[in-house]
Amino acid sequence: MFWRRRVLSDIIERELLGGTVFKDEGKLSLDYVPPTLPHREEELKTLTRAFRPVLEKPGKISPRVIVRGELGTGKTVLSKRFGLDFERIAVQRGVNLKYVHVNCRKEGSFYNILKNILTRHFQRRSLPSRGYSSQELLNFLVETLEKNNFYVVLALDELEALIEKEGGNPLFRLTRFYEDKPPNTPQRISLICIFREPECEEVFKLIDRSTLSTLGFYTIKLEKYAAYQLKDILNQRVKEAFKEDTVLPETVELIADLAGRYGDARFAIELLWLAGKYAEKTCSTKVQPEHVRAAQSYTHPTIKIEDLKLTSLHEKLLLLAVARLLKNNESAYLSMGEVEKEYGVVCEEFNEKPRAHTQTWKYLKNLSQLGLVTTKVSGRGQRGKTTLIGLAIPSEKLETEVLRLLEKAKGGFQAD
Ligand SMILES: Nc1ncnc2c1ncn2[C@@H]1O[C@H](COP(=O)(O)OP(=O)(O)OP(=O)(O)O)[C@@H](O)[C@H]1O
Ligand SMILES: [Mg+2]
Repeated sequence: MFWRRRVLSDIIERELLGGTVFKDEGKLSLDYVPPTLPHREEELKTLTRAFRPVLEKPGKISPRVIVRGELGTGKTVLSKRFGLDFERIAVQRGVNLKYVHVNCRKEGSFYNILKNILTRHFQRRSLPSRGYSSQELLNFLVETLEKNNFYVVLALDELEALIEKEGGNPLFRLTRFYEDKPPNTPQRISLICIFREPECEEVFKLIDRSTLSTLGFYTIKLEKYAAYQLKDILNQRVKEAFKEDTVLPETVELIADLAGRYGDARFAIELLWLAGKYAEKTCSTKVQPEHVRAAQSYTHPTIKIEDLKLTSLHEKLLLLAVARLLKNNESAYLSMGEVEKEYGVVCEEFNEKPRAHTQTWKYLKNLSQLGLVTTKVSGRGQRGKTTLIGLAIPSEKLETEVLRLLEKAKGGFQAD
């Protein structure tokens, strides 16, 4: 009974505090397409330039673009943003155009892709479930487009999955369809082929890159995001998804730094969302760096408390100092001076003589290699350049674990 009352009072308290840090959580979902894409403006322009002829001289040519890049570099969202805008502008100019985005991994086969385009986008419900070849379905699709005077920009996302399964055939059929048709037949299907790196390298071997260029493909490569770019992307989402002033700038900075190691916007947004969830769970009205650390240990199973066992006594004492300083602190990073001061206090508590600066520094480097602390050189805003120390795991969890290990080993340690 008691716990029930406790849960209820938590709920009431949270409601009184304004409930949640989120204003619109949906803006953090993977399917959401934001109105603008920071740091992808150039790529968006390039795509638009490539497809402009479709609006200027419909049917004359069918552009083909390859978009490639690593995980979370914005391939899907770039294509969707372009598609939505392009379709709207086409309709305004009186061109019947549909942007169709398909995920080849999910659809499974070329046959399914074509069948689903026909049924979902062109209401061809009369298709029998069997008996047609994919070539016949493609003919159907083109016929349907012809009859309705429609054009399609077809985005084939994660195309490497389809090529792995069916080789280059689907792609060649789509691109060579008009070769044996009379010269003035309008070309109604243009393509955006999306490939994830480095997986696509294998499939490019299967279809021979020179063939792609003879088919007239133009390539846009998306580079990994740097931390400062992720910061802009995150700030945009913070505005859309969170109530005003609930996410601390230090929180955004920490997420951008952590995700910047991978250049991955998906990881950044996922961390932001999870940090918000942790803030909610702890009834906090602000999303703080500590919530990010908690979220990260959840999304990144590679960071294990097990690694703590590999650390020496003084490394543990240093970790304890960092954890305690960050526990009730809104900042994401500490200066070396702050850490050394607290390390001195911790050493006193454990009757240990603090090690000299150079040795302490070596310990921190080792801890950073183990992924237990993060280090970065201070940027603008701080006086001079100094190394800043942060945590990749929640400070409370770390403090508890370190204390547990210190207790356990009391007396049995080899101080080093
Ligand atoms: N420039 C950007 N501006 C705003 N949001 C972005 C930007 N780039 C990526 N995102 C967001 O980051 C997340 C990942 O992007 P997206 O799914 O497009 O990556 P991807 O390159 O397709 O990744 P994958 O290879 O895993 O399919 C999405 O939530 C997307 O909305
Ligand atoms: Mg994608």
